[in-house]
Parts: sequence; structure tokens; C-alpha cells
Amino acid sequence: MVKVLMVLYDGGKIAAEKDSGLLGTTQKELGLRSWLEEQGHTLVTTSDKDGENSQFDQELVDAEIIITTPFHPGYLTAERLAKAKNLKLAITAGIGSDHVDLNAANKTNGGITVAEVTGSNVVSVAEHVVMTILILIRNFVPAHEQVERGDWDVAAVADKEFDLAGKTVGTVAVGRIGERVLQRLKPFGCRLLYYDYQPLSEEAQNTIGCKRMDSLEEMLGECDVVTINCPLHEKTKGLFNKDLIEKMRTGSYLINTARGAIVVKEDVAEALKSGKLAGYGGDVWFPQPAPKDHPLRTAKNPWGGGNAMVPHMSGTSIDAQRRYAKGTEEILKSYLSGKHDYRPEDLIVHNGDYATKAYGQRK
Ligand code: NAI
Repeated sequence: MVKVLMVLYDGGKIAAEKDSGLLGTTQKELGLRSWLEEQGHTLVTTSDKDGENSQFDQELVDAEIIITTPFHPGYLTAERLAKAKNLKLAITAGIGSDHVDLNAANKTNGGITVAEVTGSNVVSVAEHVVMTILILIRNFVPAHEQVERGDWDVAAVADKEFDLAGKTVGTVAVGRIGERVLQRLKPFGCRLLYYDYQPLSEEAQNTIGCKRMDSLEEMLGECDVVTINCPLHEKTKGLFNKDLIEKMRTGSYLINTARGAIVVKEDVAEALKSGKLAGYGGDVWFPQPAPKDHPLRTAKNPWGGGNAMVPHMSGTSIDAQRRYAKGTEEILKSYLSGKHDYRPEDLIVHNGDYATKAYGQRK
């Protein structure tokens, strides 16, 4: 029988309610406890994942399957993988398995499988990106704070409020999320650009009405708004540093719902403070949970706005939780049945080697 370890975020009293849809919490355990226990398997669930004596560290030594989410990631470092002597399968309930040291995973116990639920929350994130672009460009946050304070000063907030129509928006990567962002932006009447190693099909490109750029730097120089939608890997870690941000238009907006470590947080905070960036928004941080003194919690532009950061929530809407819980169950079924008939697009590493998705291949 198999020991399954889940590292999930705590949902507190709201998740404990019978009808709560917060499936991705320690209270609801992706809805999988009774299903696993009926088959004789053991399930241990915790949110305690950081520090040497965390419950995660204690329980992983004999777990065969570890399930975690990008929202509250149980970081599977090389050190932790070396301790996980029974581990065979690591599932990401969501998308993005950068919390696992993939090189080490390929060598752990003859090569473990790392799988994620591809596609499960791409619509959820695309909607959040469009919302964040609008929130920033329409100067929403300072305006709302003003009315809450009891003030009324239209000029103070209208001065930095713009229309999205007519602006140039570019996405770094046009995978499942990036493409959906462009599709949703089409009716706003923007000029749409993308940078990706893999082009969209000509048909998709024509339907959306977007243009592929040969170089990232060139695209950044043309954009009023840049949205980051690539995975975190060796080539994108720290990509948006001082030098790259310098290539962006002064007064442009940067939206990051991909991964916190794709940007150098201090450099983004500095760019916001100087007004190089008029706004920064999104939901991803490194590490997570974000420390209280993380500079992007409070950084603002010189006019006192421009920050649209929230906790990692875009891909964990109630609808998304239903989909990634279901997808996790399907991956578990493939493993527990012994068939190992996974959806190829869910595999990150498998049989001691990188699956195509690890390289960012999307088809
Ligand atoms: P996908 O696999 O469909 O597409 C990824 C795309 O990135 C591919 O087209 C690939 O060619 C491109 N790419 C890779 N490296 C690149 C680079 N250096 N420059 C330009 N393009 C590059 O992935 P999907 O589903 O669109 O997700 C993208 C990322 O979004 C995930 O890896 C994850 O980190 C993040 N994400 C965040 C969520 C959230 O809740 N905030 C939820 C889901 C995903």
C-alpha cells in the first residue's frame, strides 16, 4: 500500500465548511482522502513545509507519492529528494513544477516521475492578467483607496489613468496562458505582440491579429504593457533584471503571473520607485509565502500607486481547484493502477529523463 503526502495551503474555517469548494486546502485534501483510504492507501496532509524540522521534512522520508501546489509549494530540493528514499511520483496540483529540482529528480531512486495538471488553470490566469492590466492602466488601486479614506479628488487619480485602447501589449511566451491573454485582449483594440521560441500557427496569429517579435529586447522597447507568461527555468530565472528593465519603455507596466523568480524583486521595486515602471502587478513571489518585508508588497511609483500585487491566487479560483483536483486524481489513477498511462502533456520528468514539457514544448 502506498503512502501519499500532500503539502497544501491551510483553508481555515472557510475550507472546513461542508460545502466549501476550496479543494486545494489541507481541510479538503483535493477531495481524495476517502478515495485513497478505501483502496488501503495512507494519506498525510500538512501545510508545515519550511525549516528543517517541518512536518514535510519528517514525512517525506517514506512517502511514495508527494502532491503539492504552486500556491503553497513544498520545495523538493536536491537535499530533500536525497532523503525521500521511497519517492516515485511528485504531482503538481496545478501548473509549473519549478519547485522541484528536476536534475536531482532524474537521479532520485532511479528517476522519479514529476507530473502536473496541464491546462487546468490557464483560463483562470489569463483572466487575472487582463484584470491586472486594466487595474494598473486605469489607476484603480489608488482611486479605490481614496474613496475608502473618505476623500474625493478626481484630478489626483485621473492624472495617471489611461485607456487600454490603442496601447501596445506584449507577452513573453505565447503558450496556453499567453495565447489566451492575447485572445481576451483582442476586443480592447490594442496592438498585440509576442515573443516565444515557438510561433503560433499562422491561423491563430491571424485570428488574434498579433505579431511575433524576433527579439525580446525589441518587443520590450515597443510595449506599453508587458505580461510574463513563460515557465521558470534556467534561462528565465532573474530574466527581468535592471538591464532588461532598462530596455522597457519608461512609464510602462509589467505584469507577472508566471513565477516570482523570473524577476529580480529589488530591481523591479527600484524601477517602480523611480517611475521607470508605472506599474507592477501579478500574484507570484519567491519564496512563497512571501516574507513580510518582500519589497514588492509595498513598492509604489512616484505618484503613490502602480502596485497591483496579490497573494498567489490567479490559478486557484474555485473553478480551477475543481479542475486540478480532478487532474491530480487522474494522474494518481495512472500510477496506482500500474498502467502509467499519463497524458504526455502532463509529464515533466519521467523514466529518468526530461519529458518534452520540461523544455517548454507545448504541443
Ligand atoms: P505552456 O507550457 O502552455 O507554455 C509555455 C510557453 O513558454 C511555451 O510556448 C514556450 O515556448 C514558452 N517559453 C519557454 N521559455 C521561454 C522564454 N525564455 N522566452 C519566451 N518564451 C518561452 O505553459 P502555460 O500553461 O501557458 O503556463 C506558463 C507558466 O505560467 C507556467 O509554467 C507557470 O509558471 C505559470 N502559471 C502560473 C499560475 C498562477 O496561478 N499564477 C497558474 C498556472 C501557470
